[in-house]
Amino acid sequence: MKKYGLFLLLVTVVIGSITACETKCKKNQIGTANEDVLVVAISADFPPYEYVENNEYKGIDVEIAKAIGDKMGVEVQIKDMKFDTILGAVKSGEADIGISGISITELRKKQVDFSQSYTTTVQTIVVKEDSVIREASDLFRFGKYRRVGVQTGTTGDLYCTDDIELEGLGRVERYNAGEDAIKALVAGKIDCVVIDQEPAREFVKRNQGLKILETAYAEEEYSVAIKKGNKRLTKNINQALEELKNEGTIQKIVDKYINEKKEED
Ligand code: ARG
Repeated sequence: MKKYGLFLLLVTVVIGSITACETKCKKNQIGTANEDVLVVAISADFPPYEYVENNEYKGIDVEIAKAIGDKMGVEVQIKDMKFDTILGAVKSGEADIGISGISITELRKKQVDFSQSYTTTVQTIVVKEDSVIREASDLFRFGKYRRVGVQTGTTGDLYCTDDIELEGLGRVERYNAGEDAIKALVAGKIDCVVIDQEPAREFVKRNQGLKILETAYAEEEYSVAIKKGNKRLTKNINQALEELKNEGTIQKIVDKYINEKKEED
């Protein structure tokens, strides 16, 4: 009888831990903080990658995030925040990932892990149509003291701070959103804006009297930011991205927002 009791106890313990594992292990398999949910940080001020239209989040990154969620079998929850707070949110666990036109840089690699890249961009220079700034090198002329507008915390901000402000060649004006910098350019408060190519195109379309210089400032790769050391989530995101690339879904999403739109214009 004693033996039988011990056996029952053992069975209960085993069944108990299997049930507990079902919830916990599933969570661990995905690597997100809450099982079944992928919390995605974006800064919805960056068309065509992320923006709000009719009270809905739209754009290339939003669709890619949803497609990743579908592949992983989890619901996607979008958290909209200022761009310069996204990596912090990923670090603190407030968001599982950041997908917001985030370019891979060596400095950022020290803060977060990056997935494989899902697309590329270039940093462009937006000026007024009649600007004396004609190419990228015009920003670096000593004595001209250029006023350069950027979105706070972006690579445009990082590069211009290093190459222009710290070199004494000009001043960097930082704005909460890229389009605020564009508005300041239209108002004559600054001489140019350094920003990613596709948002630059959108903003130039919406605001009169502006153009994008042909010479680019830098080439970059967009990637998903994940909490440092979360190997499981990184593996799952990379696997989802790989599948989405191979089946042509990423290209389809990019075409929908960029290439087809260009043909319409
Ligand atoms: N690619 C640039 C960077 O990584 C700008 C990204 C800005 N994204 C945004 N959603 N506002 O810094």
